[in-house]
Amino acid sequence: MVISPQTSLWAITAHPGQEAEAEKLARRSGRPLVPPDETRFPFLLACTARGLELRQVGSNTPGPLHIDFTGGRMHQRIRTSGIRSPLPRALGLKPGHRPAVVDATAGLGQDGFLLATLGCRVTLVERALPLYLLLEEALQRALAHPATAEAAGRVTLVHADATTWLEKASSMEAVYLDPMYPARRRHALSGKGMQMLQKLVGKDEDAGELLSVARRSCSGRVVVKRPMRAGPLAGQNPDFSVKAGKTRFDVYLS
Ligand SMILES: C[S@@+](CC[C@H](N)C(=O)[O-])C[C@H]1O[C@@H](n2cnc3c(N)ncnc32)[C@H](O)[C@@H]1O
Repeated sequence: MVISPQTSLWAITAHPGQEAEAEKLARRSGRPLVPPDETRFPFLLACTARGLELRQVGSNTPGPLHIDFTGGRMHQRIRTSGIRSPLPRALGLKPGHRPAVVDATAGLGQDGFLLATLGCRVTLVERALPLYLLLEEALQRALAHPATAEAAGRVTLVHADATTWLEKASSMEAVYLDPMYPARRRHALSGKGMQMLQKLVGKDEDAGELLSVARRSCSGRVVVKRPMRAGPLAGQNPDFSVKAGKTRFDVYLS
């Protein structure tokens, strides 16, 4: 497994009744198993009755963060999106055409899972181990739920740094990148999920290199999500952009 730079920031804990699950997870991840009131780590990955949760320790902190592909906001987004929505359009989805997509910055899996519900085979690549574990558990629940099983069956999850992974991958039709937005764009971090994510994983300052590698290794198109007013990632001008409110999808054709 990739050693992520966030290693010292988090530990595993258990809600009552979930101790066996937490012990297994602690062994797998190599992270310490600590009591729920432990304060030595800024983040705790908690085994709970509803699944895994990521908690930020301290008062006035947002959270907990729990990924649920079967309901809530994800469900609402799935209901209101189609292949003409900005992200699918940018990635080249058309009637009768569903490219296989590598989502190289999986995060909470929201964009990637949406593409899977629209019929794409999706490879989610995430380098931060706590997020990978949240995604893994959420995908297992989605596979067991009749409404999401088909979409979840199209998703492959990979724990890796995408810069290294993309260099070894072959014949990719589309690569999607959504690195953390630049810090000055506060609106971009408005969701509690994204706020917590940035504290845990940092600012993805190597995103320019990731774009260069993606463009070199992808035979189809690379799409980068950007704040509307930001310049292109790493000064690399796209072939065209698809606009969506405060967001822009920059499209690089090979
Ligand atoms: C803004 S979030 C992506 C949110 C995602 N699009 C969603 O819909 O939930 C960015 C994520 O990309 C991950 N990431 C950034 N660079 C990466 C890389 N080179 N390899 C793998 N994951 C990376 C970060 O760890 C973080 O979880």
